[in-house]
Amino acid sequence: MPATLPSAARERPAAPGGVPAHIAIIMDGNGRWAGARGLPRIAGHRAGAQAVRRTIEAAISHRVGWLTLYAFSSENWRRPAGEVTDLTGLLRHYLKSEVAELARNGVRLRVIGERGRFAEDIQALLREAERLTAGNLRLNLTVALSYGARDEIVAAARRAAEAAQQGRLDPASLDEAAFAGLLATTGMPDPDLIIRTSGERRLSNFLLWQAAYAEFVFMDVLWPDFSPEHFGQALDEYARRERRFGARPA
Ligand code: FPP
Repeated sequence: MPATLPSAARERPAAPGGVPAHIAIIMDGNGRWAGARGLPRIAGHRAGAQAVRRTIEAAISHRVGWLTLYAFSSENWRRPAGEVTDLTGLLRHYLKSEVAELARNGVRLRVIGERGRFAEDIQALLREAERLTAGNLRLNLTVALSYGARDEIVAAARRAAEAAQQGRLDPASLDEAAFAGLLATTGMPDPDLIIRTSGERRLSNFLLWQAAYAEFVFMDVLWPDFSPEHFGQALDEYARRERRFGARPA
């Protein structure tokens, strides 16, 4: 958790040039981190939650405006029941213990994904966290929970089809911007940089639409070991990339 910052929660100085406005992270390797130490997987997830705190702090200090974390995929429900209980228990604990601090530090929390699949008390904590932090501008933190990009895209297509059927949408007017407005990420900028830890090089059903022009940085570090130095290395790597969005160089 970041130490309480001195200035008002609503202030967000612009990031210096070359710093991505939006970073999304696939936090991978908790289980391997625990296994390498002979510890149960939950120990890796707990250490992963500490890395989440450090990463929020690093994002704030680098003036990154948007940070999106893949915390629980829609496929994660298929893990052994004990691990699902441990992960949802950790989420409950995190929400109870951290949200006031996030609010004080100017972090606005949003959740994307099928939150209705979580226990009612967790849904209530998520609603309360979003309400409590809604006025903050320093860092927009989005946590993807029970999230799957294909589900998200299908849901958006269904909404468009229903609107067309009911005469509220002219299919000819459905362009990229209108479709993006039907996604869970409506109103958010697309990620400029996607980081995945643990050496895996996959997108794993994360932000498929939004990642169209993102830069990818794959790092060999396991998520619980992810530090502000790793965050800085990813920013340095991003700053070296030349982004053309499909256009030819000038
Ligand atoms: C991937 O490691 C990580 C997850 C499935 C869960 C991510 C959760 C956290 C970082 C902690 C909790 C976060 C919050 C916001 C409370 P893995 O288990 O797939 O690792 P492995 O690939 O080494 O088995």
